[in-house]
Amino acid sequence: MALISRRQWLAGTMKTGVAVAAGMPLFSRGPSAMPVSMPIPTIRPWLPLPTLLPPGRTLVAEQVRLPFSALPGGQDGLGYNGGVPGPTIRVQNGQVFRQRVENRLTQETSFHWHGLVAPPDMDGQPAEALAPGTAKDIVFPIKQRASLNWYHPHPHGQTATQVWHGMAGFFIVNDEEESALNLPSGDQERILVLRDAQLASTGALIYPLSAAGTEGDFPLVNGVAWPRTQLGNQFARLRILNGANARVFTLTSEAPLILIGNDGGLLEKPMAVREIEMAPAERVDVLLDLRGYRAGTNVGLSCATTGWRLLDIEVVDRQATSWSIPDRLSTIERLQHDGPPDRSFVFQENEQINNLRHDMSRIDFYVPLGKVERWRFSTARGAPHPVHVHGAHFQVQSRSGGVNRGMRVWESGWKDTVHLGTHEEIDILIKFDRYEGRYLIHCHKLEHEDHGMMMNFVVARDIARAQELDKLERLYGPICTTASVS
Ligand code: C2O
Ligand code: CU
Ligand code: CU
Repeated sequence: MALISRRQWLAGTMKTGVAVAAGMPLFSRGPSAMPVSMPIPTIRPWLPLPTLLPPGRTLVAEQVRLPFSALPGGQDGLGYNGGVPGPTIRVQNGQVFRQRVENRLTQETSFHWHGLVAPPDMDGQPAEALAPGTAKDIVFPIKQRASLNWYHPHPHGQTATQVWHGMAGFFIVNDEEESALNLPSGDQERILVLRDAQLASTGALIYPLSAAGTEGDFPLVNGVAWPRTQLGNQFARLRILNGANARVFTLTSEAPLILIGNDGGLLEKPMAVREIEMAPAERVDVLLDLRGYRAGTNVGLSCATTGWRLLDIEVVDRQATSWSIPDRLSTIERLQHDGPPDRSFVFQENEQINNLRHDMSRIDFYVPLGKVERWRFSTARGAPHPVHVHGAHFQVQSRSGGVNRGMRVWESGWKDTVHLGTHEEIDILIKFDRYEGRYLIHCHKLEHEDHGMMMNFVVARDIARAQELDKLERLYGPICTTASVS
């Protein structure tokens, strides 16, 4: 269903073109299908484009004015450097990332670089939370492919409310392979974080805590409800993050969508897709083919499950270029492991993995450094669970059970989060080859994570020694074991 042939794709495109011209509704479930607390305005506001964090500037967690509160005079929320989303961090592969971070909130927070392979003491795990009024210097080398990542708080038990109140920002890695492709950029590129939110009748943002996973009743794109933007009638690049606490979005558009990348960067080949399902923390990189649309046409980026037209795109004239989508985008080295699973994880209800709730002081398992392992994820109620692993990227091998019947096209290549659906079983291959020390596996439905659906594990060259050290730590307090390998 997701993967369609070129012929079907072209047929779909032509039909869509007719529908747009005739002003016919494209979805059976229109944008009004679901009552929303933030109605679509007659004139949509402009989509904000987050600015870059200037090099040398401290990244500050602080109170900010929420762009999505409808309270007269606005409302305080949480964010970074005055914005929601926060400023974008951009680094080049091979560079050393140096960043001072500061907590000016009245509660503890941490700075987690989701998608970046960081040493454990720079990873912003709950154990690395900063007390109010404190700062930290982050330093680690960037050795990974070009990709769209993000930063967000990860303090013990408070991640869901901090993210809900606005805390998130983009973290982009660029490399030469990606630059050489000359993908659409500048005016033809948009970086988007999708989420949902909920307002009280007063217009104030409220957090309707649900142990199953909090969802709101209207969408935000880059912190604004129902925005619009302009793109030229050429290819456009949309890089999208699902930054919601729990909502899964099903992305679709009237214009052809060509998938080129996901969490871990470029895929091997471009693929035409009709819909892309995105669980919290997942990212996709797509090209929107706007060639053939007349200036003045409106094209939507929508969510097929809710009928929300998340972003309205006004097509404007732009000079044709000779650029076309390369047949080959990248080469993905496949991890190899034909044996049975080395570990199995059952994600249960709203708060457990393998019958355990997270305990910050307990190490749940040890993983040998440099070895490819097969991990099996399954679920007993409470799904979907977007399963996220810190410290390494992984390759999805198979999905069985449930309604999806197999892997989705956006799950090839490298991932750091995979969407585990009801009754599904997913196998991944993973190899930790960068750092020794403590990492996390957890559900990225933030309420599940906060309520305990998370485990600590330790990557070690010498597992017996690591276990010994942990015993000593439990008795005498922290001992530094972080060591860089490459
Ligand atoms: Cu995006 Cu452990 O988190
Ligand atoms: Cu992460
Ligand atoms: Cu979950």
